[in-house]
Amino acid sequence: MNSSEIRQTFLNFFDSKQHKIVSSAPMVIKDDPTLMFTNAGMNQFKDIFLGNTPIKYKRISNSQKCLRVSGKHNDLEEVGHDTYHHTMFEMLGNWSFGDYFKKEAIDWAWELLIEVFKLPKDRIYATVFEGCEDDKLSRDNEASQYWSKYLPESHIINGNKKDNFWEMGETGPCGPCSEIHIDLRSDEERKILDGAKLINQDHPQVIEIWNLVFMQYNRKSNKSLESLPHQHVDTGMGFERLCMALQGKTSNYDTDVFQPIIQTIAKMGGKKYGEEEEIDISLRVIADHIRTIAFAITDGQLPSNNKAGYVIRRILRRAVRYGYTFLGFKDPFMYQLIPVLIEVMGQHFPELIKQQNLIEKVIKEEENSFLRTLENGIRLLDQIIVKTKADDFKVIPGKLAFELYDTYGFPLDLTELILKENDLVVNRKEFNLEMEAQKNRSRSATSIETGDWIEILKDDVEEFIGYDYLSTDVKITRYRKITSKGKDLYQLVFNITPFYGESGGQVGDTGYIEANGSKISILDTKKEHGLIVHLTNKIPEDPTTIFKAVVSDKKRTLTANNHTATHLMHYALRQVLGDHVEQKGSLVNPDHLRFDFSHFQKLTDEEIAKVELIVNQKIRENIAIDVKNNIPMTEAVNMGAMALFGEKYGDLVRVIKFNESVELCGGTHVNATGQIGLFKIVSESAISAGVRRIEAITADKAEHFINDKLNTLKEIEQIFKSNQNLIKNIQDLMKENFGMKKNLDGFMKDRLKVLKNDLKANISVTKNISFITEPLVVQSAGDIKDIAFQLKGEVDNLVFISGADLEGKANLTIMFSDNLVKEFGLNAGVIIREAAKEIKGGGGGQAFFASAGGKDPKGLEKAIETAKKMVLHKIEE
Ligand code: ALA
Repeated sequence: MNSSEIRQTFLNFFDSKQHKIVSSAPMVIKDDPTLMFTNAGMNQFKDIFLGNTPIKYKRISNSQKCLRVSGKHNDLEEVGHDTYHHTMFEMLGNWSFGDYFKKEAIDWAWELLIEVFKLPKDRIYATVFEGCEDDKLSRDNEASQYWSKYLPESHIINGNKKDNFWEMGETGPCGPCSEIHIDLRSDEERKILDGAKLINQDHPQVIEIWNLVFMQYNRKSNKSLESLPHQHVDTGMGFERLCMALQGKTSNYDTDVFQPIIQTIAKMGGKKYGEEEEIDISLRVIADHIRTIAFAITDGQLPSNNKAGYVIRRILRRAVRYGYTFLGFKDPFMYQLIPVLIEVMGQHFPELIKQQNLIEKVIKEEENSFLRTLENGIRLLDQIIVKTKADDFKVIPGKLAFELYDTYGFPLDLTELILKENDLVVNRKEFNLEMEAQKNRSRSATSIETGDWIEILKDDVEEFIGYDYLSTDVKITRYRKITSKGKDLYQLVFNITPFYGESGGQVGDTGYIEANGSKISILDTKKEHGLIVHLTNKIPEDPTTIFKAVVSDKKRTLTANNHTATHLMHYALRQVLGDHVEQKGSLVNPDHLRFDFSHFQKLTDEEIAKVELIVNQKIRENIAIDVKNNIPMTEAVNMGAMALFGEKYGDLVRVIKFNESVELCGGTHVNATGQIGLFKIVSESAISAGVRRIEAITADKAEHFINDKLNTLKEIEQIFKSNQNLIKNIQDLMKENFGMKKNLDGFMKDRLKVLKNDLKANISVTKNISFITEPLVVQSAGDIKDIAFQLKGEVDNLVFISGADLEGKANLTIMFSDNLVKEFGLNAGVIIREAAKEIKGGGGGQAFFASAGGKDPKGLEKAIETAKKMVLHKIEE
């Protein structure tokens, strides 16, 4: 079976067991503060496990794009060095939500692997949880008993908490798990050593392929466990590993999932896979990482300098660095792999095909900029090596190695490799300290401690009524304390709420709740795991009472203006620029709107004007909103709504329509477009190759913006005492100014000539040396310098000590003929340093010429005197 057939067979199998087959959620997570990327198939069902969202389908199955490069599950450093870890991988999963439990999960796993896929029974092992005293949990005898139907005791192995108790994070749903392992070694090897001894020992051919998790507990923040209201099943099978087992390979990278990509890279670099370990590692790293980067960009995460964007940037850099060092790629090459990636994965993930152009452009630009950084880094490292050797040291400070790692993307192993060739080493201890310090910095920047929920009222689902109401009576169903950046705050959940929780780019509502004459402000509202969470800095004295909840009307209205304007602008952009325009990010708040979209050139002024014109026309048409709540996705698409690939949508969606503008959207909007009043784009810029950003304002803000511009214009009119031909007037003025400046320069030159001749006529000669030692009246320090240099050319044996009062600031200048410098050892730079004290300043220069500036022009005569005395003293000496 090829990989597509394997995936399909899995899905068909669970379809036949009455599972609803859903598509993969995006790999990039936008609304979960605890997770940047999907790291397990169950992430999209977290809300259901937590009991925050009702169970709609009791059985679900899918193939989920996962990424394990940060947080609790992080495999990055292994990737490429071994043959079975990946950054991005597909997780095949089946779920039961309060439906079947251990028996069926085990029966069906066996049926699929042995009867459908025909894997050899004698190579299969199952692990079961051995129990844990700390958690007061005993061995999972139930799972073991089900396995013993299929496997001999010798193939059922106890596993500890680390391997056999699965937890999504520090807190949350968890439970014992049972892993299925397969021994892919040759018969000879299997005879020599029992496979059971190699389970969970990091053997490349004795590996876990499927994890069956039996979710039955919730881990609380004090680490204790409580039972979940329902028992669930959460399974995850490594698709790439399954392909390896079924295709008779001993490395994931030898399957048809990776080979076409690896062969393409090898060919581009003129290398062969399978001959040299170092080259093989590089080929595996690149083949793995290109998938991660391409899917991250597709799912809306561009490489950037912080958070999730930085993770993606680092992965891209890791691949480029391997290509550069070991495969000789000195120019961008990763972007050229997208066509072959599409060949392998495009059929199941059409979002790749749709966004090919964008993915390639973004990757190429990232590669280009990193290759420059890399070259600078290598240069820096060379300098460090030269200096260390010159100082006769053997150890490079850890701080420098860390700088190379952090700024230039040099992993420690690369730095050490290059240093080894030069007989040098890194101070690892220092490096590790720096690394630790950085981790602590980022940890404390994001650290939010959450307490456990305190439940007041059993209520399964919180209802949002804020589309229709801005105030209502509410009850608190639960609350908890959180500590963010050392500040104590509270999160409240209500039974019903008029507050909009931040989502879809629109900020959360603010307002207050009130009971018995006391008010508590709602500082922000967010969505978290299917709950609408209200943030306060106080908890009411009696949380069980009924509160009046009131949303800030003004903020909501201004935000609605900007949200609707965003839809109208999206429509206008597609009209003006074309259908390739796709939303890549959006922010809507009361002050402005920000919209990121795919487009490859800067917008011209005409295009911006056209977009504004279309939006403002739609505003004037005062189009009434047409909302369709809870309609099937297919109906929404028929209405013309654009479903973004890679976005997660439910089966039922909400559609917002303003005539031709049709969008899937959960946000709050104006009732009719006229309310927006006015729309104005204030900036257009690039945020990466192929993605542009527009910022715009509406209503009062737009009016003020335009009035400000008009006021400036009015002031200019007042200056000209006319409102006619303003541009021509300004141009004339500039022309006139230019002409006058030219004339003035001519006059100044003549004047300086006269001045110079005056000075020459008044030279005082002592001991055959021509002294000019008087202050001048000039416009600039440059004038004095000019005169000094001219005199030097015209007067022999010259000592020129002069200066000027330049609008309250003193200038002092000294010039000597070269022969005097030689003969008497005169040094203008030294003398001026002393003399400049008289003008309360300082300066310096060379032996024949120096200048100084000072605060006190009154000291000028004295400064000239001092310098002259020093010269005479030197000559007499
Ligand atoms: N959630 C389980 C895992 O990721 C299936 O291994």
